[in-house]
Amino acid sequence: MPAASPSAQSLSPGPVLPVHVAIIMDGNGRWAKQRGLPRIEGHRRGVETVRAITHAMRELGIRYLTLYAFSVENWNRPPDEVRALMGLLEYFLKRETRNLVKDRVRLLAIGRTQELPAVVRTQLEAAIQATAKFTDHTLVLALNYGARTEVVDAARAYAAAVAAGREKLNDGSWATFSRYLYTADIPDPDLIIRTSGETRVSNFLLLQGAYAEFIFSPVLWPDFTKTEFAAACAEFGRRERRYGLTSEQLKPVRAAAATK
Ligand code: FPP
Repeated sequence: MPAASPSAQSLSPGPVLPVHVAIIMDGNGRWAKQRGLPRIEGHRRGVETVRAITHAMRELGIRYLTLYAFSVENWNRPPDEVRALMGLLEYFLKRETRNLVKDRVRLLAIGRTQELPAVVRTQLEAAIQATAKFTDHTLVLALNYGARTEVVDAARAYAAAVAAGREKLNDGSWATFSRYLYTADIPDPDLIIRTSGETRVSNFLLLQGAYAEFIFSPVLWPDFTKTEFAAACAEFGRRERRYGLTSEQLKPVRAAAATK
């Protein structure tokens, strides 16, 4: 079994939808600045886009959507902005849980969520619990998330499991270790989108995104629409994912997949 093998879906003929799309929502501050508004107005409009793209996930048939809502580095922003972002998060969770239930979307969170303010944690836990039984679509919020922090947390948990005799050090493999990441039960992202024209990964899903396709959109997050989201998913369908193999090697594999 190779370390990463193409999934049945990635080999199927015809247009291929990403199973999991992850988004670095960037550009809220610039959107506000262009209009002479305070940065928080950009974040407020950003929440509207979160709502619209969550709907689009269902309409397009995307199963997993991960949104980078607050990074471990974001605590270093001006205190007013951090407070406002936490307030928006609380407001979103309070207001949106009913819609997530109506739309049968499960909510999950990745990151050091235990360090979020208690009011946010309470709303988050309530929303996760209220939507836990849904299986068709999952919205994952990356909150107080950083890929390097995630690796440290996973290494600690793995070391503790080895010390307790639940894991054997010699059996160490990616399949085993990855079960200790925040994303243990979430498939790797197929497509990572970053808005606002910036072309960085910014400590987001560094390991899970090892074979992801990247699309960098010039559109600022508050202006990002379902049309742009659908266009990115369509562009993904035109890309050839080779998983370290050559195009020639993949031809017979794809032909075999097409006859299944
Ligand atoms: C980056 O834009 C955006 C963030 C750091 C926060 C994203 C948060 C939201 C969209 C709202 C809260 C989220 C949810 C899920 C309710 P930036 O401020 O870095 O923009 P800039 O680079 O133009 O300054």
